[in-house]
Order: sequence, then C-alpha cells, then structure tokens
Amino acid sequence: MTDQTLIAVKPEIAAGSHADAERRAAMVAEAAKDPEGFWTREMNRLAWMRAPTKIKDTSFEGDVSIKWFEDGVLNLTESCLDRHVEGGRGDAVAIIWEGDDPKSDAHITYRQLLERVCRLANAMKSLGVRRGDRVSIYLPMIVESAVAMLACARIGAVHSVIFGGFSPDSLSSRIQDCESTLLITADEGRRGGRTVPLKANADEALKSCPTIKNVIVAKNTGGGVAMEDGRDHDWATLCDAQSAECAPEPMGAEDPLFILYTSGSTGKPKGVLHTTGGYGVWAAFTHELVFDYRPGEVYWCTADVGWVTGHTYIVYGPLANGATTLMFEGVPNWPDSSRFWNVIDKHKVNIFYTAPTAIRALMREGEAPVKKSSRKSLRILGSVGEPINPEAWLWYYRVVGDERCPIVDTWWQTETGGILISPLPGSVAQKPGSATLPLPGVFPALVDNDGAILEGATEGNLVITDSWPGQMRTVFRDHERFVQTYFSTFPGKYFTGDGARRDEDGYWWITGRVDDVLNVSGHRMGTAEIESALVAHPKVAEAAVVGMPHEIKGQGIYAYVTLKVDEEPTEALRKELVAWVRKEIGPIASPDAIQWAPGLPKTRSGKIMRRILRKIAANETDSLGDTSTLADPTVVQDLIGNRVG
Ligand code: WT7
Repeated sequence: MTDQTLIAVKPEIAAGSHADAERRAAMVAEAAKDPEGFWTREMNRLAWMRAPTKIKDTSFEGDVSIKWFEDGVLNLTESCLDRHVEGGRGDAVAIIWEGDDPKSDAHITYRQLLERVCRLANAMKSLGVRRGDRVSIYLPMIVESAVAMLACARIGAVHSVIFGGFSPDSLSSRIQDCESTLLITADEGRRGGRTVPLKANADEALKSCPTIKNVIVAKNTGGGVAMEDGRDHDWATLCDAQSAECAPEPMGAEDPLFILYTSGSTGKPKGVLHTTGGYGVWAAFTHELVFDYRPGEVYWCTADVGWVTGHTYIVYGPLANGATTLMFEGVPNWPDSSRFWNVIDKHKVNIFYTAPTAIRALMREGEAPVKKSSRKSLRILGSVGEPINPEAWLWYYRVVGDERCPIVDTWWQTETGGILISPLPGSVAQKPGSATLPLPGVFPALVDNDGAILEGATEGNLVITDSWPGQMRTVFRDHERFVQTYFSTFPGKYFTGDGARRDEDGYWWITGRVDDVLNVSGHRMGTAEIESALVAHPKVAEAAVVGMPHEIKGQGIYAYVTLKVDEEPTEALRKELVAWVRKEIGPIASPDAIQWAPGLPKTRSGKIMRRILRKIAANETDSLGDTSTLADPTVVQDLIGNRVG
C-alpha cells in the first residue's frame, strides 16, 4: 500500500523545532539508557514545591506498582496558572472560547483564569469539599469545565468528568462508583443549534446518587431549570461571594488528580486513575514535543473535555506550557461544513488537532467548504482517536494543510495519559496512515498470542514493556481489576488491547482493537455494555454486539438480538430498541444495525463466537473460518441469510 510513501521533514518546520532529528535521537537514546537522568531533567517542566529525588519505581510484575517522582510535592495548577501570571504572562490569553453560535466567543487571560479557579476552589471548600474527595463534572464545552477541573486540582479534590452526551443512567453509575459528594453541571449545553438538558439529566441521575450533597449549576443558555433548595447552588452567586485567592494545596506526586471512566471488553466502565506528578510531566512534555508548541501560538484541539484528549490536550498540557488553547462548543458541520476552517481563520489557529471521523465526514462534503477559507495560520495538523486511513490522511494533508503542514497521527489511550506513538514534526518523516515512531521513553513491542516478542517487520499484539510517567496507576478502588485487565494477558507487560504492524523502517501502524472494544467515531465503547443495555429491555432474551466497518464513523455498531418467545420482530420494535440504547447509555451508543437472530453461534460450552458475527456484519461471509466447534452450525446460515444492510 502506502508503506513506501515517505513525506520528508520540512526544513522550515525542523528549524527551531523542539526536536529536530539530532535532538530526537539524543532524547530517545538517553531515555533508554539513563531514564533517571532523562526524567530528572524533564520533570522541571513543572513547578515543584519540593523537587523529587526518587524518580522511577515501577514494576509490571505481580501486584504491579507504578510510582514516578514519588517524594515530590506540587500542585499542578501552579504549573498551569500561577507561574505564568507571576512570570509576567498574566495578560496572555489562556483560553479562547468559541461558542456553538459563530457570533459568540470569549478570551480568558491567565490572570482571569487563575482568579476564577480560586473562587470556585473556595466555593467548593465552603461546601465542605476536602482534599481526596471526588467531584463529578457534567458540563458542556464551556470555560467552566476547565475552571472546574483546575479548581478541584487546586484543593486536591479528585475530578471525574463525565461526557455531556452521556445519559442519566451513565452519569449516575459513574457518580455511584466513585462516591462523589459534589456535582458540577450547567443548565443546558449547546451543540449544532440544539440544546442538551444537562441539569434535567443530572436531576434524573441524582435520584439514585445518595452521596451527592451539593450541586453547582453554571448558567449557560439561561434556560429555566429546577433548583433544589439546600442542594443546588448557582455558580455565579456562590463564586461572587468568595475570595479571588486560594492557596494551592501541596500534593504528593502520587496523589490522585483525576478519575476518568472508560470502557473495556467486560463489565462496567473502569475508573482510570491518574496521579499528579507523572501525568503532569507527561502532559507538558508530549504537548510541547508532538505539536512542537512555540510561545504565542494558538492551539486548538477539537475533542470534548469529557474524554482524556480534552483533559490532557485542551486543559493540562497546553496550560502547563503557557499556551493559548481554544475550546469549541460546537460541531464541525453547523451552521455549515466550513465551520472548522472559519474558526481557524477567525482565531488564527496555528496547531489543529482533530479526529479521523471528523475528517472523513468533512471530506465527503468536497473541497469547496475548505477552500473558502485561508488557513494560512496553520502550521501543524494532528489526528487522534482511531486509525486514520491513508485516503483521509492525504486529504487532510493536501486540502486542509495545503501540503505545508506536517500531520501528527498520535496513538494513545485513556490509560496512557498522553501520546505514546507519534511523529515529532521536526524530526520524523511521515507515512500516510502510520503513527510512525514511539516518543522518547516509550518502549512498545509486538507479541504473538502466546506472549512471545516478535522482531522485525511483522504484525501482532501491541504491548508496552516499561512504564512512562503518564501511565494510569490503578482502577479506582479495584487494583485487582487493573492488574487483571492490563497485565495478565501478557505477564510483565502492559497490554494495550490494540493490534499493530511494524514495517521495514520500524514504523508503527495501529490496526485497531483486538478485544471486544469498539471505536465508534473515536468514542470507545464496550460491546458488553451495549449488550447489557439491550438485554435490559423486557422483550429481549439475548444480544451480541460487534463492530462493522463504517465509512465515516470508522466502526459502526451491529447488534444481533434474540427476542423472548412470543415477541414479534417488528420495525417498530427495532426503532424502540435503538431509542432504548440511546436512553440507557447515550446517543453515541445507538446501534447502526439490528439483526433479529433466532439463535447465536455458540460453542458447545456456550461461548458466543464473535469472530463469526463480525464476519457476517462486515459481509465477509465467504471467509467465516472454522465453524466446526459450533454447537449448532445451522444458525450461521440463518444469520447470513438475514444480514442487515
Ligand atoms: C483507543 C483508545 C487517544 C485518546 C482518545 C481515545 C484507538 C487512539 C489512535 C491512533 C489508531 C488510535 C486505539 C486505542 N486510537 N488513537 N492515532 N491510531 N488508533 O482514547 O477512548 O481511551 O481509546 O483508541 O484503539 O486503544 P480512548
């Protein structure tokens, strides 16, 4: 395919970059040979109250223990706010907010942001929130979401952000799991000209969340919402009464910073726990190197703060580096499909970071909506969330970047805290569709299904053999599950759940999940979660969910549903089930196809053979493979015959 297409580093990008080829090679070598020395230097990207002397103490064996900068003391908000203000950059713009409505925007300076964070931090204290307490955040893409996260960090509370597109059920289960005592939300969100009833959803969720004592409600749309006396507080009223100063709580490097729930192949979403020092170093290090961020540049990541990309690359990374970070409330195709490019021109964006699904959707609209804009300010383009097909990569490169901007295809995960595999724009030649090479201090490997390390140009399961500072430390209150999920498949190694290929030049090509996790429009979902939502419907007996290739979303959701005896498989019921899943989980989990299945292909021990279901969903029925172990091979013929789509 395109393995041979090599797009050389541009001299004008290499010049003055944070890592030209020579510098990158030196970093890679040093991080491998002398990790203590390397990270002792890199940790100085953060402001420490007490500098660490213990750098790395990690083991992937046995109980698995990961500690970085263990005896260091810091408050990450000092790195993100105070030091910029104290260093004379208080009037520099920290956040450019661009509203859903193209006429609404705002510029927040570092000084203003610090003040707002301190006021909310004091407000939280006044409500009894203490260091170590969990605070759930359910907000749209408004400045308050960054303020809320940082205010938690300021007082040492652990934030758990829940994507505003999640349903009341998804919200309540995430609140219940971490037993948060405070919820921060807004009246409503706005997206593509429509409103999202956040407070109403929260009220519904809170019926089953006895740990929540207080709710802080930001006024966003001004839409009327119910306020419960003694529990609900108006953000502005509460914060106006507070002091604009709040001393940063001294935190140990290994004290928790946040929990973020993510889907796995089994069970309920896991509370991925990240701590303060290592995560902060990784966010600052990768944001500067991968995007080659230079002072004064405007940087825009289009993710939602409800996902890890928003945490690391809208909030913590850019702010630690004193960047101007753009936060966008809207969607790519509203009011029309020039929106991204208009925003880039409007705010003179230099670095733009988005997802392949958005690129593919916009690509379908042709070049005209792009070419109406100048995009002259752009210097670097980024991609994240799912494999980017070479066709979309080349369109992004040629049409959006006018062949002037390198593309950083960044591979990472909620669990990794930040980017692990990506080109550094000043030093690594690109191949369309390849995430290229690991960052300094990242040690990926390919293993076969028995765990044997594979050498040379080959394909296999992607593992990481040693720790990096940004790695998750545990699953909140379930360390056993952490060890089981990530370190038991290939003992002694961190298993990513992804498959990958390494080519003749040592370049890495991520091929996608090899477990039962779906990636739909860059959103991660467990098949088990969707299945349990389906079987919760009174008419459903059994369900099996697999991914299917989808032109825009990357993967679509294909559900096989067995109804209870006497239930009729009607079109009305199909629609009802789609609506049911949307209500149970959220719109992102809506099945794209539902096939009525009188029976599912199972082994004699009762295990569903998903491999076969995936093939049928993908319409690759001439390569079903071995079906001889099936308890009843005839179900397969029925499923093939009644394939949907
Ligand atoms: C999964 C992680 C990375 C933050 C946003 C998603 C897939 C992510 C890439 C990429 C190929 C990618 C992987 C990974 N993925 N980036 N550049 N190329 N695949 O975080 O929700 O934790 O999902 O997204 O399959 O395991 P997440």
